[in-house]
Amino acid sequence: MCGIIGYVGAQPALEVVLSGLRRLEYRGYDSAGVAVVGAGVLRTERRAGRLANLEKVLDEGSDAMPGTTGMGHTRWATHGGPTDVNAHPHTDCTGMVAVIHNGIIENFAELRAELENSGHELTSETDTEVVAHLLEIEIARSRAASGETASTASTASTGSTAGTATTAAAAVAAAAAGTAGGSGAAGGAAGAGPHPLTEALRAVCRRLQGAFTLVVLHQDHPEVVVGARRNSPLVVGLGAGEAFLASDVSAFIAHTREALEIGQDQVVEARRDGVTVYDFAGTPIEGRRYHVDWDASAAEKGGFPYFMLKEISEQPDALADTLRGRLSPEGSIVLDEERLSDQDFRDIDKVFIVACGTAYHAGLIAKYAIEHWTRLPCEVEMASEFRYRDPVLDRSTLVVAISQSGETLDTLMAVKHAREQKARVLAICNTNGSTIPRESDAVLYTRCGPEVGVAATKTFLGQVAACLLVGLFLAQTRGVLYGDEVAAYVDRLQRMPELVRRTLGTVEPVRELARSLAGAKAVLFLGRHVGYPVALEGALKLKELAYMHAEGFPAGELKHGPIALIEPGLPVVVVVPSPRGRANLHGKMVSNIQEVRARGARTIVIAEEGDTAVEPYADHLIRVPATSSLLAPLVTTLPLQVFACELALARGLDVDQPRNLAKSVTVE
Ligand code: F6R
Repeated sequence: MCGIIGYVGAQPALEVVLSGLRRLEYRGYDSAGVAVVGAGVLRTERRAGRLANLEKVLDEGSDAMPGTTGMGHTRWATHGGPTDVNAHPHTDCTGMVAVIHNGIIENFAELRAELENSGHELTSETDTEVVAHLLEIEIARSRAASGETASTASTASTGSTAGTATTAAAAVAAAAAGTAGGSGAAGGAAGAGPHPLTEALRAVCRRLQGAFTLVVLHQDHPEVVVGARRNSPLVVGLGAGEAFLASDVSAFIAHTREALEIGQDQVVEARRDGVTVYDFAGTPIEGRRYHVDWDASAAEKGGFPYFMLKEISEQPDALADTLRGRLSPEGSIVLDEERLSDQDFRDIDKVFIVACGTAYHAGLIAKYAIEHWTRLPCEVEMASEFRYRDPVLDRSTLVVAISQSGETLDTLMAVKHAREQKARVLAICNTNGSTIPRESDAVLYTRCGPEVGVAATKTFLGQVAACLLVGLFLAQTRGVLYGDEVAAYVDRLQRMPELVRRTLGTVEPVRELARSLAGAKAVLFLGRHVGYPVALEGALKLKELAYMHAEGFPAGELKHGPIALIEPGLPVVVVVPSPRGRANLHGKMVSNIQEVRARGARTIVIAEEGDTAVEPYADHLIRVPATSSLLAPLVTTLPLQVFACELALARGLDVDQPRNLAKSVTVE
């Protein structure tokens, strides 16, 4: 939700920032803007709409933004519509400070009133603009205290006073030597102490409530770009003689794979020669460095017209990567990397799963597996509701928080609430260095690689697989399943990437069907058991990509109301349980198919190979390989992803950037 990049180095900042924004646009595409400091001038440009609009303007004004320090923003609108005026960066009255922001400043109305009362003129409807003006006040205050004026500070920044001259000289020397950026206090410009812009931002942050990532530039200080974060993502890229501040590593992965995590309530000062991190109280912090284990090509389309198509096709490998090293040759589950002890797992007496959207659907699937395998009660809750209903949590509760981005604010707040109540929190996450794993007791990474398409596909498979691993691990550790039972599942899981590959190899008829339904008004999805969350996921994909009315129902619930929706020609997708499964669910589902067909529905039936009982009632039959019931979502979901994607494309829509959405939702 909003993409942010800041850069300081030796390259032309505008090029670096624009290439970063191209990779970040999936986070929001209501507007885009850039700011560059060079030749003693701060220049900004911003436009409503997609990044292409901004690029067009910049192309027209050739060479208009010289400088090697800059920043850029792609916006997902919260306060104020998607207009030029509301686009970031925002500047102060003097035009010397520029700010970009992700999140929501909850007390912005009172801050705005205070600023306006003291004569500041704010021009946008955003919450962000107050930060630029508060910085203006802070900077003026600290200059007044040190007897400095704007013009002497300006001179200082070009190397005329001892303090900043040292910084600038060190920076140039480091850049010339190609020194890698350092981190923590030791990585800063030796002895320089916090930069005045850092101090100003730190002071301003202490006045802000809500969630924010902020990156700021100052016309007089081309030697730094400064950022801060609370409940919203910010990661640092450490290059040779250059540094990046960004919402996620994809923004700078083409330049460096060395990254530094920025923790909650911290401010970071990036210079060419390194970065320095402080908490909001001003104490230097040693950040955690890590190496990004994927490269720039993973975040490119690789010959596919859309990221979503690429990511759908990557699912066999993504699933294999989630499982890699976690299924032992002896047939047990190995979860070495998470930090809860076996005793912690044995002490648990109930499980909550919290997540949003597609991740919530993964959680619903997990509930069936966890309760069946462990005999522990397991509740699944939309993260946005969790903390407001005061759930009963204690030390023996395991809360599993599922999040692809690791930044979803609803899920993050649920995690914080759970930990305050002393529950143990295990995150299932795809993004190394993100906030939710950091705020949790333990983490299981899904390792699916970057997902750029706004609709989750491969990471859903990774989440389901990770949940299954957690369920089996719990059952194994608590001795509820026998070793040979776990081994049988290990064997089946090992074969799943191949089954996913096979399924994807047979989806061409699904594409044709989707194209033929491009004019449909609505589609219903029915499922039973784990097929029910799959139906919900199929409906969600269709809503968000094709902007169609789509609903998922448990098939047994149909007769209690939704059946009234059935009318001649309505497409109804049915996810059929295995005929080898329990409680004759299959037979009941075959009856449900007949019920909707009798009322004129056009039935699209997803059934396992060899299930002949459904054939007479299927207007369209989509086959998936047979597997055990609890693992079936790993294959039954695939045709539904393809269906939604193709139908949206047939309607002429952009499947990577559906309207009103953003990949990472960092507001509540
Ligand atoms: C739908 C989709 C969203 C996300 C949800 C949670 O395709 O992607 O519903 O699943 O916003 O996001 P994460 O997993 O990042 O917490």
